[in-house]
Parts: sequence; C-alpha cells; structure tokens
Amino acid sequence: MRPYPPHAARELPGADLKTLVVSDASEATAAVAAEIAALIDAPRPRGESATLGLATGDTPLGVYAELVRRSREGLDLTCVTTFNLDEYVGLAGDHPSSFAAFMRRNLFEPAGIDDARAHIPKGNLAEADLEDHCAEYERAIAAAGGIDLQLLGLGRNGHIAFNEPGTDFDSRTHVQLLTDGTRTANARGFSSCEAVPTRAVTMGLGTIREARRVRLLAFGSHKAAVVERLLRGPVETAFPASCLRDHPDAILWIDEAAGERMR
Ligand code: F6R
Repeated sequence: MRPYPPHAARELPGADLKTLVVSDASEATAAVAAEIAALIDAPRPRGESATLGLATGDTPLGVYAELVRRSREGLDLTCVTTFNLDEYVGLAGDHPSSFAAFMRRNLFEPAGIDDARAHIPKGNLAEADLEDHCAEYERAIAAAGGIDLQLLGLGRNGHIAFNEPGTDFDSRTHVQLLTDGTRTANARGFSSCEAVPTRAVTMGLGTIREARRVRLLAFGSHKAAVVERLLRGPVETAFPASCLRDHPDAILWIDEAAGERMR
C-alpha cells in the first residue's frame, strides 16, 4: 500500500485548513483512495459498514479509478454505504447525464456496489415531493450513522456540492438554483449550456460539515484563484467552501498548478 500521506506531499505552512500539495493530481487521488480503502478495511464495533459521501465531476475520477483497481486486487467495496452529494432536478437516474449514471459508470458497477447501498438524491420527482425527499435523504444519512468520509470537489465560485454562494452554513439537503457559471462549467455531457438543468437537489453545508472527515480536492491552474480565496479569504457565506475552515478533520489536497498563487 502507498504510504499515507505520500512522502511527496508538502504541507502548506500557516493554513488554517490543512493543505497538502503534490506535484501531480494522481498522487493525491491515490492517497485519498488509500485512506478510503483503510477506512473500509478498519474493524468496526458492530460490524457496520463504512459510510462514504461521494462527489461527481472531473476531480474525483482518479479516486474512483484507483478504488476500482483496488477492488480488482481484493478490496471489498460491496459492503460500503454511499451517499452522493447531488443530482439535477428533472433528470431520471437512467438519464446519461445524470449524476446517478456517472456514478454507476465510474464506480458502482465496476466496483460491485449495489444500488441498495448507493444513495443518490432523486431529481425526477413531482415538484410537491421534492421537499419531503430532501428530508428523507437527511434521515437516511442519520440512520446510516452519519458520513465517515466526505469526498468533495471545489467549484470555481467556491461551491461545494451544489451549495452556491449565499447558502447558509447550517443548510440541510435542499433544492438549489444553479448559477449560470455552474451550469456552463457542467455543460459537458449535455448538448448545450441551455440543456443543463437550472436546479439540483444537494446536500446542505450543514450536512457536509457533519461528516467526520472531509477530503476536498482541487487540481489544475483553473482552480488556483478559488484555492487562494479559500485559504486566504474570509469565512463568509458568499464563499461556501470557507465553511470547512473550522472543520476538525478536513484536508485540502491540491496539485502545484492549483497552488500556484500560494507560493
Ligand atoms: C459534484 C459537485 C460539485 C463539483 C464541483 C467541481 O457532485 O457537487 O461541487 O465537485 O463543481 O467540479 P469538477 O470536479 O468537475 O471541477
């Protein structure tokens, strides 16, 4: 197993959110996958499974590829319980651009994680049922004993999950209106920017902050400005990711490119 954290990771001095810098994103994704594997293998008091909070987007793909590779070498992922951060309102789980389809493709099917253990908010409910569904999602997380480790990517406007600027730090799972910038950034997989849904069901910032460990990943120079604001800017609802600055066990993993403004 790779050492965790990898020897090549350098900790940024003076950051109140622990920040580990690696030269290449693959070192960070391998280290986070190794941490998840150790969590899955760790003995638990009553034989419960590890509960993971999962993200979609480009950033976690390397973590999922490494977990799939490890599952082929014997890591048993069939016993984990997972909760995804978000889903677009209006898309059924079998829509190819849904986050449910993304997860099945990149992790659940190749790693043998059964649908019954893999929770993703439903986006294709009747309008009147969405609010109850959000409350039910919260209850399901609580019933699973809470989230052991939450994986996160970082939006360019500081969103985590689909909590856009202005979201309350104590918010729970809710329906969120997406900004134009977020819809444009997520247009891959859709025929056009206009085809990206305008709303999503998302875990709230309060939900995310309750995860026992949070691992936030940001790679590439297009994330350098948002990383700088996260580490040097104020803690404010205008910048949702800043709610993690006082989390007791959060780590930001970045590559040199995402950390280029922090030198
Ligand atoms: C994904 C999610 C988003 C992404 C963020 C970064 O489930 O909730 O917050 O993590 O938009 O996306 P990428 O990784 O594509 O840069």
